[in-house]
Amino acid sequence: MNDMVVTPWEVGGIIDYNKLMKEFGIQPFSDLLRNWNVDIEPMHLMRRGIIFGHRDYERILEAMRGKNWAVMSGFMPSGLPHLGHKMTMDEIIWHQKAGGFAHIALADMEAHVVRGLSWDKLRDIGELYLKSLIALGLDENRAFMYFQSSNSHVKDLAFELSAEVNWSELKAIYGFTSETPLAKMFVTSVQAADILHPQLKNFGGPKPVVVPVGADQDPHLRLTRDLAARISIFAFEGIDRGVRVRSRKGSKYLRMLEKELCFEYRSYAEHIDIFGERKDIEEFVRNFEVDIGGFAFISPSSTYHKFITGLTGGKMSSSKPESYISLFEDPNIASKKVKKAITGGRGSAEEQRKLGGEPEKCSVFELFSIHLIEDDKELEELRKKCINGEQLCGNCKKLACQLIEEFLKEFQEKVNSIELRKI
Ligand code: TRP
Ligand code: SF4
Repeated sequence: MNDMVVTPWEVGGIIDYNKLMKEFGIQPFSDLLRNWNVDIEPMHLMRRGIIFGHRDYERILEAMRGKNWAVMSGFMPSGLPHLGHKMTMDEIIWHQKAGGFAHIALADMEAHVVRGLSWDKLRDIGELYLKSLIALGLDENRAFMYFQSSNSHVKDLAFELSAEVNWSELKAIYGFTSETPLAKMFVTSVQAADILHPQLKNFGGPKPVVVPVGADQDPHLRLTRDLAARISIFAFEGIDRGVRVRSRKGSKYLRMLEKELCFEYRSYAEHIDIFGERKDIEEFVRNFEVDIGGFAFISPSSTYHKFITGLTGGKMSSSKPESYISLFEDPNIASKKVKKAITGGRGSAEEQRKLGGEPEKCSVFELFSIHLIEDDKELEELRKKCINGEQLCGNCKKLACQLIEEFLKEFQEKVNSIELRKI
């Protein structure tokens, strides 16, 4: 029962994030916080360890100092957006404010095969996700939002990517069986295409892209990062004073490239060693690849947030309405759910005054730290009052109820005033 299972279709058991990072090869985000070298302050979810891991985020930090980069993520519009989705939405918006162009996929193709919902229904629900993003602060003028089913760039790219994937690989990554429908296998390529499409020529060509997701989505990222490399012509490897460039699609591309080089280089049958600044060389070769019709994808970066605990303890699940709060919920009902939520409190008031509460086990404290309290000092005060027994759960929940009601009222008013552009 306690065995940890983390796949895109199933999450269960007790999650050990250190073990997860080791198994998947995810890097700890805490290392980055120690060497944070950009002017923008890390997001509250980063500061609080809720975003616990990443892949290649260094590339995004570097891109933040330049200009041309993007943030990309997606949502399966199979139920109303809830606080779990809000976390990803906030991450997208934070990255947009940090300078990235935002790309947002509504995964209606995935929801159609995995959940069996009709296209019309998916469109209606999907629009609520788009409105939510805007109400939470997404700048529509620096965002591209789309439904998978109506984006032919994504669908065409998905088809091309699927040519690089074979059955044994799918089986190993996703645990598919001989009963798995072809469409369910194909949507893995669609998701890879979601992630890579910001780098298509029509979207401005190769660029760093960060994908904020829950850790369950990492298999998609591993596959996508692999595909990004496999489908592109040139591969890079650092050498002394420069870069070794190989071609994955035959040496004729090396011979074409060497004619255009304006760097010092040495040519071999199977590779070219090019000397100079690594960044400049890679950029030059990527531009060349795009010119001759290749993809030249840069491996996408990612961040991973923890799974949020349901209000009833255990997993937050759309099949258990008491376990989550939808963004469209009546604020009074939301408040009632918070009142009933599992806390880190003790058996009696007396005991709690003596021993203090356990905020790290408390779903209400989680609400504060992810959604309701932006200010670190305020949160820390609350945590201290909890652990030294000064604050009892009743009062603490009152504050949470008040904050969540205010948030939902304001949010819902904003949503109602939004007129969506046609997409
Ligand atoms: N599969 C994701 C989910 O279940 C949704 C999704 C679709 C996605 N395309 C994406 C996430 C691209 C990140 C990037 O929630
Ligand atoms: Fe949670 Fe607040 Fe109770 Fe502490 S006092 S356990 S933070 S509800």
